[in-house]
Amino acid sequence: MAYFAEESEMLLEKLQAYVPTATPFHMPGHKRNTALSGYLSKLGADVDITEIDGFDDLHAPESILMESMRRAAGLWGSDEARYLVNGSTAGILSAIYALGTGGGKAVIARNAHKSVYHALEITGLSPVFVLPEYDEAHGAFLSVRPQSIDEALLKTPDARFVLITSPTYEGVISDIKRIAEIAHARGIPVIVDEAHGAHLDLGGKFAGGAVKAGADIVIQSVHKTLPGLTQTAIMHISGMLVNKADVWHALDIFETSSPSYLLMASLDGCTEFMKEKGRDTLTALHGALESFFKEAETLERIRVWRPEGAFLFDDMKILISGKRAGVSGKRIMEILREDFSIELEAAFCDYAVAMAGAGTTAEELGRLLSALRVMDGRFGLSENGKRYPCPAIPESVLDIRRALLCPFEFVPLDCAEGRISAEYAWAYPPGIPVFVPGEKIDVSSLSAWKNMVADGLKTVKTRSGDGMLAVLSENEYKSC
Ligand SMILES: Cc1ncc(COP(=O)(O)O)c(C=O)c1O
Repeated sequence: MAYFAEESEMLLEKLQAYVPTATPFHMPGHKRNTALSGYLSKLGADVDITEIDGFDDLHAPESILMESMRRAAGLWGSDEARYLVNGSTAGILSAIYALGTGGGKAVIARNAHKSVYHALEITGLSPVFVLPEYDEAHGAFLSVRPQSIDEALLKTPDARFVLITSPTYEGVISDIKRIAEIAHARGIPVIVDEAHGAHLDLGGKFAGGAVKAGADIVIQSVHKTLPGLTQTAIMHISGMLVNKADVWHALDIFETSSPSYLLMASLDGCTEFMKEKGRDTLTALHGALESFFKEAETLERIRVWRPEGAFLFDDMKILISGKRAGVSGKRIMEILREDFSIELEAAFCDYAVAMAGAGTTAEELGRLLSALRVMDGRFGLSENGKRYPCPAIPESVLDIRRALLCPFEFVPLDCAEGRISAEYAWAYPPGIPVFVPGEKIDVSSLSAWKNMVADGLKTVKTRSGDGMLAVLSENEYKSC
């Protein structure tokens, strides 16, 4: 049952009251002595403490942190919540470890963040991947069809959980309510990576949140869309399908044993702010975004694009497409940075992502709109008819961990087709792997990779250098 404490002591206030009175012979080593150097006072070291008497323990919470996390559960509507100071990454690793350790199978939407693949590597789970709908014109994943989950679970009745990313980096939301009903009918829990959706259902018309939709574990990066310092995140658990103690144990494994009180005070402050002012703030922001989207409809060449066919779209994301002007996402991002001092979140092949957040003002949205109008006038119509076919789900030959332990060699990308990957490769952001260790490399993933490199995305390969790929040595991997 959700519990909502009415009166609360704010963590930051308690820290501020405490620090002048106590002499610190405990960690951290700066001892709150901000006179040592200017950076310490600028970064708030005066209230940076460790777990000391009266300040609770994130790994065994029972007082001020527990109260704050109960208020967070009440605000979002979950049964229990835990603050995370290592981002959603720690929550995703912990959730998958808790539900999947010891192996078995899990149904996972393919467009998962790298942390999901890393958790598969750690647990040895065998993924049964489901492809979301896909927009070939822009090369973007859309919603996961509930029917696809139904079909995957029919074939995998022993799946340990279902995992969906919603919203995606592009703000595409899936029908979590329907997906949860399908999985729950078989007694299978649903994890939702809601790193981009902490604001959903908290105000304005930002709808489609996974807690309200009935997901069992929901992980949200507070820092992505709400007023939280970078790295702050939250994990929600609801229902009876998940053993909470197992998840808390997993958090003990994956999360630092020295959680920052600055980050926890930020989470506490954010929960209180959203409880008191969140609805009004998000309502005002949504109104400003609606005006922005309406006005942006007049743009002709550098256009604001909304994915068609998505179950729901999160207005927090502004997708700026250069397709009609033949301009890449990277170039859009560069022009906005160099000519207008506007920094976007990410660039993809022919669109860039501007991300709003609780702190975004109507004036800033106006500045972006004016810049887009100027850019729109600079380019002629030069439609880029390029298609970005969806990479197929490759054949998995070895599980990730085993593949990473096998002998490997480097081959030129052009010679990699049919070989088995010995490394991860992704564009970051969004950190969705194109190549995964142990998977057979096929034409569709090679062509997706080449498109990303040609369009100047920031790409990462975990073993090889430019133009090469690490693949398992042909004859040796069978015996490794
Ligand atoms: C979909 C998705 N999930 C998880 C993460 C990890 O979140 P964090 O940076 O809070 O660890 C990201 C980060 O960008 C993401 O895009």
